[in-house]
Amino acid sequence: MSEQADPPRGIAFVIFGVTGDLTRRKLIPALYELLSEERLPEPLCIIGFARRDWTNEYMRQVLSEGLDEYARRKPVQPEVREKLLHEALYLQSSFDDLDGYKRLGEVLKGLNINNVLFYLATPPDAYIEIIRNIGSCGIHQGYEGWTRIVVEKPYGDDLESAEELENEIHQVFREKQVYRIDHYLGKETVQNILVLRFANGIFEPLWNRSYVDHVQITVAETHGVGTRGNYYESAGVIRDMFQNHLLQLLTLTAMESPVAFNSEAVRDEKVKVLRALRPMRGVYAIQNTFRAQYTSGLMYNNRVVGYKDEANVSSNSTTETFLAARVHVDNWRWANVPFYLRSGKRLPSRSTEITIQFRQTPLSLFNWQNMAGEAPNALVLTLQPDEGITLTFGAKVPGPINKIAPVQMEFKYQEAFGGEPPEAYERLLLDVLMGDATLFTRSDEVLAQWAFTEGIIDAWTTTPVRNLPVYESGTWGPPGADEFIHSDGRMWRNPKTAISD
Ligand code: BG6
Repeated sequence: MSEQADPPRGIAFVIFGVTGDLTRRKLIPALYELLSEERLPEPLCIIGFARRDWTNEYMRQVLSEGLDEYARRKPVQPEVREKLLHEALYLQSSFDDLDGYKRLGEVLKGLNINNVLFYLATPPDAYIEIIRNIGSCGIHQGYEGWTRIVVEKPYGDDLESAEELENEIHQVFREKQVYRIDHYLGKETVQNILVLRFANGIFEPLWNRSYVDHVQITVAETHGVGTRGNYYESAGVIRDMFQNHLLQLLTLTAMESPVAFNSEAVRDEKVKVLRALRPMRGVYAIQNTFRAQYTSGLMYNNRVVGYKDEANVSSNSTTETFLAARVHVDNWRWANVPFYLRSGKRLPSRSTEITIQFRQTPLSLFNWQNMAGEAPNALVLTLQPDEGITLTFGAKVPGPINKIAPVQMEFKYQEAFGGEPPEAYERLLLDVLMGDATLFTRSDEVLAQWAFTEGIIDAWTTTPVRNLPVYESGTWGPPGADEFIHSDGRMWRNPKTAISD
């Protein structure tokens, strides 16, 4: 599975945009966990590269405070903290200044390392410039070991810009050196979709159009756009969640069994699903999507502002914060089985779920009236929080009358394995360092995601919605969101308990 199986010796971990939130919140805490579990290949030297006027000491202090705040297991162990940060270096430079890259090259030469990882943790508009400058200063070459680059989402904001980014990346790096992060793939339970399907013999025979009525994939969030209004205004749910996380969950759910569990075989199958998606364009895209925007409302008894009143959001904004889509995978396995994808901010609970809703029995012998609308056979994969898998089926209610009620067989991660699952970034960073790209988005995959998503965006642009439906914060979207699926004779499976973020 790995490009290089042995733990590599001596790594420079160069973080462009080290002063941003991602480094403090995710990267350093993940490296800390890996180091405390003795999984981190060593020695590893962190080099921060950014515009701000920071010193080595100041960067170490900021990253160290970030650890106290965001480390998964507290208190932070002083010796691990020290080992991770005491030699971390800061290089101040603007991203367009070649001199900065040359200085970086000198620093890299002076370190006793043979592998270099470049991590793009900057705003995406700096990616191309950084990649070009790495290339023109030649600092991606000349090491005994490997050179890799990690690119954070968004990879472009439409098909054209994604293609441009991919072209630029491939001028400097070979595809095998590129790791595009979708942090959903680092979540333990997302990986478990493949294990559930392909390590067990009992599910796969049912996993197709003969037995499945439809599939629902919900990524519900309780928080609003927070401080990211500026970015979100031009992204909306479609670019922020649909093009990447929702499509990843869809491909893992719908893909065929790979011939082997390695990065190429797994990603080949995912790409096939993306290519089998029925294109959504024009009127068809309008008919098969539903968008809305949150207004003010009560979240856990606190009044929160509506989207238009968030910082850096236009008071006339028509950006969607909720999206439902009916998607078809046109292949033999899934012909005519709709996949309902849904994501929104300011919904009543934070939860990510995939529901495989099985067909009804061919003949109804019993009285299903007491089922309160719940179709009996559903396999629900709860990816977060309360990670687990639930199978719902009908059972006889004790008593003289033949009544059926839905009951559940449940598997809970925490009960089975104890503890909390590691953070997505722990797994992903380790995989990058070990050269395993299975959980990263391949170039053709990201372009296929965009090719599909762009049809919807184009349709929305040419047919702008007149009165964007709105929903009160803390609700499951406007009535139109329910009508969207009711019109097919189905209903959303809404997670029952509201859980705080
Ligand atoms: C990010 C989006 O990619 O994923 C955010 O930009 C979103 O808007 C986040 O909140 C959700 O991730 P998670 O891991 O909290 O489900």
